[in-house]
Amino acid sequence: MNKITIIGAGAVGATAAQRIAEKELGDIVLTDIVEGLPQGKALDLLESGPLCGYDSKVTGTNDYKDIEGSDIVVVTAGIARKPGMTREDLLKINTKIIKEVSQNIAKYAPDSIVITVTNPLDIMTYVTMRTTGFEPQRVFGMSGMLDSGRFATFIAMELGCSVRDISAVVLGGHGDTMVPLPRFTTVSGVPITELLSKDVIQRLVDRTVNGGAEIVNLLKTGSAFYAPSAAVTNMVEAVVKDTKRILPVCAYLNGEYGKKNIYLGVPVKLGRRGVEEVIELKLAADEKKALDSSAEAVKTGIASVSALS
Ligand code: NAI
Ligand code: 2OP
Repeated sequence: MNKITIIGAGAVGATAAQRIAEKELGDIVLTDIVEGLPQGKALDLLESGPLCGYDSKVTGTNDYKDIEGSDIVVVTAGIARKPGMTREDLLKINTKIIKEVSQNIAKYAPDSIVITVTNPLDIMTYVTMRTTGFEPQRVFGMSGMLDSGRFATFIAMELGCSVRDISAVVLGGHGDTMVPLPRFTTVSGVPITELLSKDVIQRLVDRTVNGGAEIVNLLKTGSAFYAPSAAVTNMVEAVVKDTKRILPVCAYLNGEYGKKNIYLGVPVKLGRRGVEEVIELKLAADEKKALDSSAEAVKTGIASVSALS
């Protein structure tokens, strides 16, 4: 059985634990700084096993020693965005948390693959990689799967078709500069640029870019967690089962797309070794320009984190 640790037993972490257990992708260790929280949620999930028909073991702990030997570590520890707060507002607090968490991952789970979820995502994934000292292929972030899931949802709503037939592509940072790519987004192989007008596509793109804020404004006390945890679970599955699926992932770029020393959302081949290949799409001039500005925004964030230390 794979050992899958989830750090942060909040909304995203606990729901991801539920989804991972229901798919029996491994045994799960749930950790948090709040005493009793991971233990209580883990026990509740364990007691769901007989009812849902899974044998995954779920345990909760406040002690990093219990994550020893983890194959995969998912990092959701941090604070979530509140109404009126941008992802960038989270930078200071979450950087401190991610550094502490990453030091413990390096100490207790030195061979693990790490999936960062905490916002601001691209920057926190960079901090995770630098602090653990792991090879960049083993450290990546969840963002593009959520963003492209949202884009696909809105396209299906507009066309009145099944979400299953939609393959949506969103590149770039997980923030206001993300880059949904209508030209590469298809419904059963047909680009949406042939199915929807420019104005409608722009409306769906804008809704996708603001997808996180839309949920925050509705919930008022927290941010999205059902779709984020589903995205995490798909990524964990790709690693555990070595599926080599091509998925949008926040990955380290070392020359790809003309960028270096940065994490950015791009399509990658995901397998047992983590990011096994970065797939380079041939971008048109306007798409490249949008990706460049997204990369600039992430670079600025990374620079401000470096200034903090
Ligand atoms: P939450 O507040 O429900 O859970 C966060 C948990 O982290 C809490 O239980 C808290 O006690 C714990 N925590 C805080 N500091 C810790 C530490 N030092 N060590 C261990 N645990 C610690 O928040 P939620 O909704 O689960 O979101 C978690 C993070 O994920 C937030 O930063 C949020 O913005 C981000 N997020 C990112 C998404 C993405 O697409 N990348 C999507 C959804 C959320
Ligand atoms: C989202 O996009 C909060 O980043 C999170 O829902």
